[in-house]
Amino acid sequence: MRPRKLGQCSPLLESVGSDGATYDHVVRSTPIEPLAAPLTDGVVTVRLRRDTDLASISVARDDPETERWLDHEPPDSVPRSASEIMSIWRSGQAAPLVIADAGTDDPVGLINLQFRNDEDATVAYQVFPERRGLGIAARALELVTGWAFRDLGLRYVMLEIDEANTASMRVAEKCRFAQRVTDPEPSSRGSKPPQVTFVRTAS
Ligand SMILES: CC(C)(COP(=O)(O)OP(=O)(O)OC[C@H]1O[C@@H](n2cnc3c(N)ncnc32)[C@H](O)[C@@H]1OP(=O)(O)O)[C@@H](O)C(=O)NCCC(=O)NCCS
Repeated sequence: MRPRKLGQCSPLLESVGSDGATYDHVVRSTPIEPLAAPLTDGVVTVRLRRDTDLASISVARDDPETERWLDHEPPDSVPRSASEIMSIWRSGQAAPLVIADAGTDDPVGLINLQFRNDEDATVAYQVFPERRGLGIAARALELVTGWAFRDLGLRYVMLEIDEANTASMRVAEKCRFAQRVTDPEPSSRGSKPPQVTFVRTAS
């Protein structure tokens, strides 16, 4: 297991190790079946990755905001293919999903549910730069959180956000996540801003 870097959000899929291993997460006791049908609210769709998404995903990986706020290993030269994604789903470690425009089905971001155990998971998300400020992240997070509670039986979904990441903090608030912990390891964070953990509990 590799250590998690401090001061950044949980990893998006592209930073999960090449063997599918994650940083410090214990995985579910059972694999999960990939989504049978997309999740949608009529504006945003959350769906499985297709190989036709790879060009957009690749371009968005160069985004400085994503590099700043998400826990990235040096990027792979090529994002994960749809078949590689399937093996990560079946390993029970993570549920990597694409956020798409419900009208066009074009990919507009990524969202990854990463399991700690059978009850808890963290979420990481990225909206591609040209689609930010339209409420997409909050819609996608709402869809994924609802699915995790309803269909996967999770009790807690967590977000780990750098306190200076104003947009992501706002997404958490809009989706009714409660702020739980601020800066759990202040001594090891140096001059970095505090990190905040948000939790939403199944009702
Ligand atoms: C964080 C991120 C996913 C938000 O996606 P988004 O779809 O643009 O989110 P929203 O449109 O719902 O905007 C979120 C809120 O933040 C606000 N916001 C957006 N950018 C902002 C900024 N630079 N400063 C302050 N507020 C900002 C918006 O006004 C909105 O609030 P409102 O609904 O009250 O108006 C996106 O900015 C992103 O991909 N960033 C890089 C990756 C990242 O930080 N991921 C999260 C790691 S924890």
